[in-house]
Amino acid sequence: MNTTKDVYREAALTPDVGLCCTTTPIWQLPELDIPKKMQQMNYGCGSTVHPRDLVNNPRILYVGVGGGMEVLQFAYFSRQKGGVIGLDVVDEMIQACEDNLVEAQATNAWFNRDFVELRKGDALALPLENESIDVAAQNCLFNIFTKHDLKKALEEMHRVLKPHGRLILSDPVSESPMSEALVNDDRLRALCLSGALPLKEYIQMITDAGFGTVEIRAKRPYRILDPSHYDTPVNVFIESVEVCAIKDPMPEDGPCVFTGRTAVYYGQESYFDDKKGHVLMYNQPLSICDKTAAALESLNHPEIFISESTWFYDGGGCC
Ligand SMILES: C[S@@+](CC[C@H](N)C(=O)[O-])C[C@H]1O[C@@H](n2cnc3c(N)ncnc32)[C@H](O)[C@@H]1O
Repeated sequence: MNTTKDVYREAALTPDVGLCCTTTPIWQLPELDIPKKMQQMNYGCGSTVHPRDLVNNPRILYVGVGGGMEVLQFAYFSRQKGGVIGLDVVDEMIQACEDNLVEAQATNAWFNRDFVELRKGDALALPLENESIDVAAQNCLFNIFTKHDLKKALEEMHRVLKPHGRLILSDPVSESPMSEALVNDDRLRALCLSGALPLKEYIQMITDAGFGTVEIRAKRPYRILDPSHYDTPVNVFIESVEVCAIKDPMPEDGPCVFTGRTAVYYGQESYFDDKKGHVLMYNQPLSICDKTAAALESLNHPEIFISESTWFYDGGGCC
């Protein structure tokens, strides 16, 4: 924890443009002016802000505020006093975020500084009541945690979310074996480089915390850790993912995980009904979760096409 605090104290005092940088474009929205320092302090590895999650005037929680760019973006949609609660454990980061939000108020006519309530708080012990939040987000923080702490952080998010509330996450993941030296390097972990889990394990931890629905919204190349620069015998390829975990009840047959798979029926009838709630209209695409994809595949139906995961899912699914 001390290494993490040191890293983010430094990153608060001196913006580090290379930290966590990805190819994810920064939201540009009408009349949204993101201060330059906020952009330099974009320490996220994807985006957690999307209007589709923000219907019905949600109470929003953002954990690990960094320079405040995503907090400002959430406030853009929320636009009310205390509509967004931002938490961080590092005093200097809270101050930097505060300064950046004050600057944003000067150049964004729609924005009031009191739209965001900044609090000191730890992701591992959220200072919030049970079932008090509609939308929670974290960007490039949870990968820093050991598995033990990640479990706790996910349970905390699940606790404070209302039923059907949404947790939006963006984190690095990696399918490459990570050497013990990398895994145990606290500084690299704090820099979001060596805490990446395989995607399947990351999703499993999310569903183990009780989230009944999971959507993989994006997956992009992120970093290579190579033997000439890092303590690893082989190249480690890291990707970044954007995930939405919904606090739906857990289905009896396990969670619905959407990874962008789609089924298309192209037989002689006007539709195909699997009698389990999935009706495939002739030549119409139906987004399906991985569980349904496996069930349909097991039918070996000659006139049903089932796509691979696209890792790009943005709603309209089966379950
Ligand atoms: C990689 S930065 C991401 C910042 C921001 N989410 C963004 O996308 O720019 C991680 C942030 O989490 C904060 N942080 C680290 N450990 C934390 C904890 N246990 N609880 C809450 N915030 C923490 C750091 O101070 C830093 O602001």
